[in-house]
Amino acid sequence: MKVTVILPAAGLGTRMGRQSPERAGTSRKQFMLLDGSPILLHTIRKFFCSPSVTEIVVALRNEDVPWVKELLAREGAAKPVRLEEGGDTRQQSVENALAKMSPDIDLVAVHDAVRPFIEPSIIERAIQEAAESGAAIVGIIPVDTVKQVKRNKINGTLSRDRLVLAQTPQVFCLDLLRRAFAKAHEDGFVGTDESSLVERLEQVEVSVVPGSDRNIKITKPSDMDLARLFLAEELQHKRT
Ligand code: CTP
Ligand code: MG
Repeated sequence: MKVTVILPAAGLGTRMGRQSPERAGTSRKQFMLLDGSPILLHTIRKFFCSPSVTEIVVALRNEDVPWVKELLAREGAAKPVRLEEGGDTRQQSVENALAKMSPDIDLVAVHDAVRPFIEPSIIERAIQEAAESGAAIVGIIPVDTVKQVKRNKINGTLSRDRLVLAQTPQVFCLDLLRRAFAKAHEDGFVGTDESSLVERLEQVEVSVVPGSDRNIKITKPSDMDLARLFLAEELQHKRT
């Protein structure tokens, strides 16, 4: 079974801003340093450690390609890593990477480059589930009560046992994901994850496998405090 991972890493990191103290050449969040390595590299290492993953494709802004190439050369890639040009939205970045995919790939996993705390065991579980059902995402049950609102007035309360917060990786059969992107393209639909595109096809049920509350999407400056804590714990865990 061939499994390709797409890591969209072409964002601008506008919510993170440019005020954060840790930066490597560029302040965009996917390249901010954690323990001396850019966040993107921490994420890539998790997929190097996942036995089912065959290759990794990173979607980047053109200007970042040369130095990420160098970064990977220094790291010594444990698996093939291809760099592709991203687009103006996350969806476009994934679509560009998908367009370059060889047809013999069985499964495609899409994972935010800024979720470096994904555990290889969770990646493996999502891939296994997608291999069986065709479509699987990682998700967690919310701890807060979720309300629907109209402007600042509450419209209803959603029952928590029917809710899941979608994380990544999100894993699909290549053919299914391609069809989902083609339909979204045709309809001008823009989603914030791949599952929403696949759901619109109404062809398969997307499975959910348990994620982790450590699998945060580094988005705003305070997330870096959490990230440093999680990384310190990871390193401690490795030593013991
Ligand atoms: N991404 C991408 N191409 C884009 C936009 C986003 O590849 N045009 C990637 C980001 O680099 C990130 C992931 O998609 O790894 C999740 O997106 P998000 O957290 O929204 O990152 P940004 O778009 O960079 O941040 P912001 O929305 O705050 O600007
Ligand atoms: Mg964004």
